[in-house]
Amino acid sequence: MSPEISSAASFIPSSCLHTIFRAAQESERRTGAEVVKLHVGDPYFHPAGNVADAFVDAVRRGDTKYTGPDGLPELREAVVEKLRTDNCVDTVVDRVLVTPGSCEGLAALFQTLTEPGAEILLPELHWPVHLQQSLLAGLRPVLYPLGPGFRPEVERIAAAASPRTKVLLINSPANPTGVVLDPGEITALLDLARARGWHVVSDEAYEHFCYEREHLSVASLERDVPVEERIVHSVFSFSKSFAMTGYRLGYVALANDRAADVMRVVQEANIIGTNTPVQHAGVAALASRSDAAATNRKLVQRNRDVALPPLVKAGLLNELPAGGWYAMLDVARTGLDAETFALRLLERKGVAVVAGNGFAMRPQLDDQGHIRAHDYAPWARHLVRVAFCVDPGWLETGVRKILEFVDECGDDGHHSAE
Ligand SMILES: Cc1ncc(COP(=O)(O)O)c(C=O)c1O
Repeated sequence: MSPEISSAASFIPSSCLHTIFRAAQESERRTGAEVVKLHVGDPYFHPAGNVADAFVDAVRRGDTKYTGPDGLPELREAVVEKLRTDNCVDTVVDRVLVTPGSCEGLAALFQTLTEPGAEILLPELHWPVHLQQSLLAGLRPVLYPLGPGFRPEVERIAAAASPRTKVLLINSPANPTGVVLDPGEITALLDLARARGWHVVSDEAYEHFCYEREHLSVASLERDVPVEERIVHSVFSFSKSFAMTGYRLGYVALANDRAADVMRVVQEANIIGTNTPVQHAGVAALASRSDAAATNRKLVQRNRDVALPPLVKAGLLNELPAGGWYAMLDVARTGLDAETFALRLLERKGVAVVAGNGFAMRPQLDDQGHIRAHDYAPWARHLVRVAFCVDPGWLETGVRKILEFVDECGDDGHHSAE
């Protein structure tokens, strides 16, 4: 018998993102028919040619040694310049760490900021990875209720906080809701965090996908604050802006030198360093960033504007998402809960979407911060998430099949809700 495993990880359920991922793969294996994949945030477009060239060139010339836990100096310099000119964020190379994907950057940042008993405030409808990462880092997630349209409200966040609150997570544009915060909302959240002595983690993976207003980086509001008093740690990704999902590249701009020094140690232990040829590809991506990001935003925005209106017309979607790559549909009128809806849609129509209740998991924790039980917020029972960054033809087919399926379920769906 091998020894028992009872780590924090051993109590965390696999996320809804992976459940449907596996189900779609299994369906393709079983039927041989390609699934219309609206469940993953993976784009149909590709990185600019100079990105692949930079990667291959680095491999060919043997630039494949370790670069250290904070990353390639040229890349960090390019990041500082990008943050200054595009995001109005004031930083220096020593406070920028390159990471293998922003996902790892977030995980390392949570490890950097955690302490025994500390709590992190997450929205009740959140990206499941933020919740998993908090638990793994030993930060106790506290889920605060959102206001109308899934928008965060300062009063509700203040009411959910406790003397143990240490971190407030902000994710704008948001996965899964598509909400883009306006300057007033961001200022109010930052003021609250500052007044209460919290850190802010700003996940800006979708910074280039705002369709109705300019993206605002939370840290730009701290430009005039002395560095040692800054509280905003910003996390960015190459995956979405430059279609580099499989390259695995991101970066974190730490608020101050102390945080950067601590995270450097975390990275010494976690990664040693980020893939070196990929970092050269990152330098190339930043060199051609304006064109690439603008083109990619237009492609996703066109998908949104062309393919999603029928879902609004059918009453499954309140309004077009203001940002990001996802739309949250409400399929209550089918009578099916989200998981049944997602599985039957896959079975009957060959379309994969994610059951939205998985974005609203409510864990109950024991004294050690381990999950003892969990349920899902009842109001999320009929939500399903659709990714609209995929091939336009696929997206149109997927939306058409979703509408057909909803019609077949009938308006109260009892005959199919068994
Ligand atoms: C909100 C959010 N943050 C971060 C990431 C991680 O992206 P990556 O690790 O590919 O940089 C994702 C990926 O889907 C995301 O949706």
